[in-house]
Amino acid sequence: MSIQSDFIWIDGEMVPFADAKVHVLTHTLHYGLGAFEGIRAYKRSDGRTAVFRLKDHIRRLFDSCHIVTMKIPFSQEEICNACVETIQKNGFEDCYIRPVAFLGDGEMGLAALSNPIRISVICWKWGAYLGDEGLNNGIRAKISSFNRHHVNSSMVKGKINGQYVNSILAKREVMAQGFQEAIMLDTEGYVSEASGENIFIIRDKQIFTTPYGSSILGGITRDTILRLAKSFGHEVIEQRFTRDSLYTADEMFVVGTAAEVTPIREVDNRQIGIGKPGPITKQLQSAYFDLVSGSAADPNEWLTYIN
Ligand SMILES: Cc1ncc(COP(=O)(O)O)c(C=O)c1O
Repeated sequence: MSIQSDFIWIDGEMVPFADAKVHVLTHTLHYGLGAFEGIRAYKRSDGRTAVFRLKDHIRRLFDSCHIVTMKIPFSQEEICNACVETIQKNGFEDCYIRPVAFLGDGEMGLAALSNPIRISVICWKWGAYLGDEGLNNGIRAKISSFNRHHVNSSMVKGKINGQYVNSILAKREVMAQGFQEAIMLDTEGYVSEASGENIFIIRDKQIFTTPYGSSILGGITRDTILRLAKSFGHEVIEQRFTRDSLYTADEMFVVGTAAEVTPIREVDNRQIGIGKPGPITKQLQSAYFDLVSGSAADPNEWLTYIN
């Protein structure tokens, strides 16, 4: 899938794709201080395109920047509008949207307090992150030897650029062994999250996910799924669990904006449940797609229509 588009929004201007360039002295390129978001827009069954939970994603972008003491020189509303305009200008009916805030060039010392804070919004077409086959039949995951960040050495509630080295190492490690996704444990050995998704397991019809207060990113898809699960009357328990709880789960799936709701059929060479998506996974996955790209009502005002 190509990451090409016609236009990119950068620092308040809409510029042709080829002109959205930065200097090699860009501070974030060297040290990783910056924040980003991943958002999706879908064409719904009424033929109109809507961005899913745009305001919540932009709020998290501003929270991430606040956590790392970067003040974005635009309002949240202006960045929401920039996302909508970038999709419209590129004529996408469905796409992935990547706002990224970063420190520009100037000083090269670590603090770089006077470097400009820059921000860009990029859109591209992106299909199923873990593959259509994975969405339909489930993927094989492995627990990585890399732990998820300790809560007091990295800021786990921020979607901070440099922190993603941790996820990349985990993902590359398990992919080299033939698995599709990495699961990370926290520094105490409890299940944390996947390299770019939050984790859910089901046992005896109870749904478990790791708590917001642990070393996970507060996923917006996680929140959506929690609410959908409750709306179906399922019991949802947010608590820490151990790696062997994954092995003995009846069903398991991971959720994220990119990966959507992807079933897990195997962890560490152990089959999960019946080895294919179970009934609760399928129910929640289908409710999620009905919400983002189907015809479900939108009582929470999560959809921002762009046309
Ligand atoms: C480490 C990590 N956890 C969880 C998620 C899921 O977050 P969301 O559902 O907001 O996309 C992501 C994706 O952004 C992520 O990178």
